[in-house]
Parts: sequence; C-alpha cells; structure tokens
Amino acid sequence: MSTTMTEQFSKGLEDVVAGTTSICTINPDTETLLYRGYSATDLSQNATYEEVAHLLIEGRLPKKRELKRITKLLVQERKIPKPLIKVLKLIPLKSSPMDVLRTSVSFMGALEEARQYSIEDTKQIVYSIMAKLPVALMSWYHLSKGGDLPKVNKNLTYAGRFLQMVTGKDPSPLEEKIMNASLILYAEHELNASTFAARVTVSTLSDIYSALTSGIGTLKGPLHGGANEAAMELILKFKSPQDAITGITSMIEKKEKIMGFGHRVYKKGDGRSVIMKKYAKELAEMKGNQKLFEIAEAVEKTVKEKKGIFPNADFYSAVAYYLLGIPIPLYTPIFVLSRTAGWSAHVLEQLSDNRLIRPRAIYVGQPARDFSPIERR
Ligand SMILES: CC(C)(COP(=O)(O)OP(=O)(O)OC[C@H]1O[C@@H](n2cnc3c(N)ncnc32)[C@H](O)[C@@H]1OP(=O)(O)O)[C@@H](O)C(=O)NCCC(=O)NCCS
Repeated sequence: MSTTMTEQFSKGLEDVVAGTTSICTINPDTETLLYRGYSATDLSQNATYEEVAHLLIEGRLPKKRELKRITKLLVQERKIPKPLIKVLKLIPLKSSPMDVLRTSVSFMGALEEARQYSIEDTKQIVYSIMAKLPVALMSWYHLSKGGDLPKVNKNLTYAGRFLQMVTGKDPSPLEEKIMNASLILYAEHELNASTFAARVTVSTLSDIYSALTSGIGTLKGPLHGGANEAAMELILKFKSPQDAITGITSMIEKKEKIMGFGHRVYKKGDGRSVIMKKYAKELAEMKGNQKLFEIAEAVEKTVKEKKGIFPNADFYSAVAYYLLGIPIPLYTPIFVLSRTAGWSAHVLEQLSDNRLIRPRAIYVGQPARDFSPIERR
C-alpha cells in the first residue's frame, strides 16, 4: 500500500473532497447553506418549494411562465400508474413507508421501456416522480389504515397538497407555510451520504430511477434521514422539561447518542434548525401545546450544556411535524419528497460531466496465499 493512499485515507470519507458541484455549498466560515448561491434559509422564508425545485434542477429561479409550467406539471403528473397501485396493495401494512417509497420509484422505473435517457428525458421523469411520490406514499398509507387517499385540492401548493393528503383537511396558511419551509430546508445538502449514493449510481450510466432508489435506501438510516423520527420518539418519552433534563443527562452519561443533534459538517450550529425552531414555537402556541415545545427546548439546552452539540435540521422539524398532525413514520418520507429535487439536480450534474466514481481501499486482509483444497481446510 503506497504511503500516499494511506495519507489520503479518512474513515467515513470525512473532509474528503469527492467532486465539484455548482448546486450547493456550506460556507466554511459562516456555515451558511447556499442553494446555487442563494441562502437556503432566505429561500425557505420567501419562495415556494416549486421555485426551489426549479432552481436546483434547472439551475436558476423560474420566471413566472416557468413557475406556472412546473406548478402545473406537478399537479398534472400526480396520477400513479395502475400497476403501481397493485404493488402498493401487496406491501405489508407493517412495512416502513421508506420501503414503500423506495419500491415505488424502483417499480416506476421497471414500467419504463429499458433505454438510455437523455438529460431532457431525465428532467421530465424527475418532475413526474416528484408529482407521483407523495400520492404513492399517501395512497399506501391510507390503504394500510383501511381508508382512501383524500381528493387532492389542486389549488394548494406542493407543500399544502401533501398536508391535505395526510390529514384530509386543507391546511391553514401558517401550516402550509411551515410545511413549505421545511421542504425547502431539506431539499439539498451538498455531498451528503444519500446524494453521494445517487451520484455513484448514475456515474455508472445507470438511470434516474436507480439513482433515486439508491438515495432513498441511503437516507433511510438513523444516522441520516431517520433521525427526525428517532428525535420525536425521544421527545415524547419525557413528561416535563425537568424529566427531559434528567433523562438526557443520564443518556449522555451512558454515552448514548441523542438523535437530532450533531452534524458531520456544521460544528457551530445548523441554521435550518433555527428556522424550524421558530416555526415549532409558533405552531405550539397556535395548537396550545407549549409543553411539548418546552420539553424540546429542555432537551436542546441539556445537550448543549453537557456535550456542546447543537440540534440539526431534524430536531425541530420533528416537533413541527408532530404539531402539524403528521404521523411519525411519515417524517423521513417527507425528507425523501423534499430531497428528490436535490438528488435529481446532482444526477443531472453528474451526467452532464460524468466520470465513473470508483475510489480505492486500503487492504487490511491476509497477504497473498495459496489456495487450500477443501479436504485440507
Ligand atoms: C450526524 C453524526 C453521525 C455526525 O457524526 P460525526 O461527524 O461522525 O461526529 P462524531 O460521531 O465524531 O461526534 C463527535 C463527538 O460528539 C459526540 N456526538 C455527536 N453527535 C452526538 C449526538 N447526537 N449525541 C451525543 N453525542 C454526540 C460523539 O459521541 C463524539 O463525542 P466524543 O468526542 O466524546 O467521542 C452524529 O452527530 C450523530 O450520530 N447524530 C445523531 C443522528 C442525527 O441526528 N443524524 C442526522 C444528521 S443531519
């Protein structure tokens, strides 16, 4: 093994530069998240998810005409193929909704004629998948509970339609705004594990369906997307802020991980969490459930004091989702609906200047040895 390879090695690829991108960056000094140069937190306050999806996928904010087109496309393309409905009915009720999404994307790919897609084809497929995924997820969810998907209100935004598909009611303007902000804040995050997985997949000249399937499978883990569900389960264990302080202190003493805290890149704090905390507080006041917010704040304060670690995007998103009436098993799937825009932008960028992603490994196994016949083993 050459010294150079050993020197380059970093477990978990921490701080390894594995490519170039013009989609997203985290300013190393301010730790500000930028989507194509625009602050993600600003976008979350001023834009719709549809505009941000266009920004990520097409490379620029849409003009009015372009926004109208993509908004229409995301409504028009929402109908899921009949064979997919049959597949959804076969997925066990106890399955993870993440498996439902992964299977849905993979199955939609299997319904296409096997061929190479151009970049333009890929973009059209992306918008179609973005329109269909919430419908596939919520159709399965309602089917699994013995119900039906509520009739979709086409006048709502992408975020509002999702909430309406979950609760069966039109969301209030504040609820729609918060869901929209959350989708924007989750939409893209440079070379995180699932985006990297999607890029690796498409770098073999596989297709968008396979890349998104890889992305969803990678996001499922509790160290990545799964943290928002785990964070909520944790918060709900505590009956009061004092109970939270005691419980978290004991977890930290036992060196247990607190889900929804810490980040591989952000070390000073995660700006997305600041926005979601503000919204979780507003929602808690609106819904008359300040106690839940106070418990979450007690968890935050204790982790900060004892470990010096900040909440990441997942922590207060979880609180906001809970207050929006979204069932916990749907939290990570929401991340998928949002991140599909970011993954797709990366797939398109990879395809536009492709080189197979194929790193090396430092071998730590047995040295070369002779084959041993089975009688002598
Ligand atoms: C996201 C995460 C994997 C980043 O990990 P990382 O960059 O490898 O950071 P490390 O695991 O090296 O953590 C450094 C130190 O902080 C501690 N730490 C990190 N996250 C922690 C957490 N959530 N709870 C308690 N301690 C934590 C580690 O135990 C380690 O402490 P030590 O130096 O005393 O051993 C990690 O913070 C984590 O597991 N968080 C919980 C899951 C989560 O919220 N994921 C969503 C990410 S957006």
